[in-house]
Amino acid sequence: MSSNGDYSFHDFKPGREDMAAEVLRGITGVQKYISPKFFYDEKGSVLFEQITTLPEYYLTRTEMALFDAKLPEISSFLPADLCVIEYGSGSSLKIRKLLQGLTPQAYVPVDISDEHLQQNARLLHADFSDLNVYPVCADFTHQFQLPEAVQPLQKFAFFPGSSIGNFEPEAARGFLINVREAVEYGGFLLIGVDRKKARQVLEAAYDDASGITAAFNLNVLSHLNTELNSNFDLNGFEHVASYDADAGCICMFLRSLVDQDVQIAGEKVSFSAGEHIHTENSYKYHPQEFIDLAASAGFEEVARYTDVDDQFGLYLLRGR
Ligand code: TRP
Repeated sequence: MSSNGDYSFHDFKPGREDMAAEVLRGITGVQKYISPKFFYDEKGSVLFEQITTLPEYYLTRTEMALFDAKLPEISSFLPADLCVIEYGSGSSLKIRKLLQGLTPQAYVPVDISDEHLQQNARLLHADFSDLNVYPVCADFTHQFQLPEAVQPLQKFAFFPGSSIGNFEPEAARGFLINVREAVEYGGFLLIGVDRKKARQVLEAAYDDASGITAAFNLNVLSHLNTELNSNFDLNGFEHVASYDADAGCICMFLRSLVDQDVQIAGEKVSFSAGEHIHTENSYKYHPQEFIDLAASAGFEEVARYTDVDDQFGLYLLRGR
């Protein structure tokens, strides 16, 4: 189908820190660390898609069901001249539901991976014929400029998937402050946030019986092997996901099963048996706790939604 909407690409891609230097800095620290951004090579992206369909991983299907049930009401709170800003152009299923439900005039997907971003943006531009699409390549944890053309529209930010939980709470506040700046006074944020709940439910969601999440976590080592010519033995590490109830956080690690030395970008790094490499955190929030965090970043609550089992929270907020 031919399209009437505009399309333009806006590039603020940051210069990349040398991957070897970044990995070495993390893996030689007191608490050894590999940044979760290295999860997503081609295999990692496929494994992550599989995670979202696992029986134990209730997050994606619960959030999708909330969209189905609540988008008509959400839409009733919004003006007609809307610009949707999506932070991280991830699952095209979610954004398609949103664009169908809200019929905005413009769509601004923001992502650091320019290939992935433009590929998705072009598909949506083709499928939503009247929609103006302005992809922005940027690191959305920093401020960036919105395209000129969306200035007159009411801004509506969209941040699904409980990705906010992958920030430390202080960084989450910093991110929300940036979003508040971007949407301006009276602008909106629709955000999906996983809730605190029983340890067994949470730990199963991040350590499924079929081993997909374990494979996803371990795959970061094979990504490093390919990119940095390192020699991690994937059989020498195991996936660990444990819930820290005090912090309200699922913490993911790779635990060394034996004493071992690994060559990484020309350096020898030693691991003792039982030593953990930290890979990612996923913070969980009680609804009021999240509303308070958002309030401290300049948002007020318009509506909060949850599923019948109180597993997942969906929040419509407005900049004040
Ligand atoms: N943000 C989601 C969450 O915290 C998805 C996610 C990020 C994830 N990293 C992950 C899921 C690692 C499983 C494993 O749940």
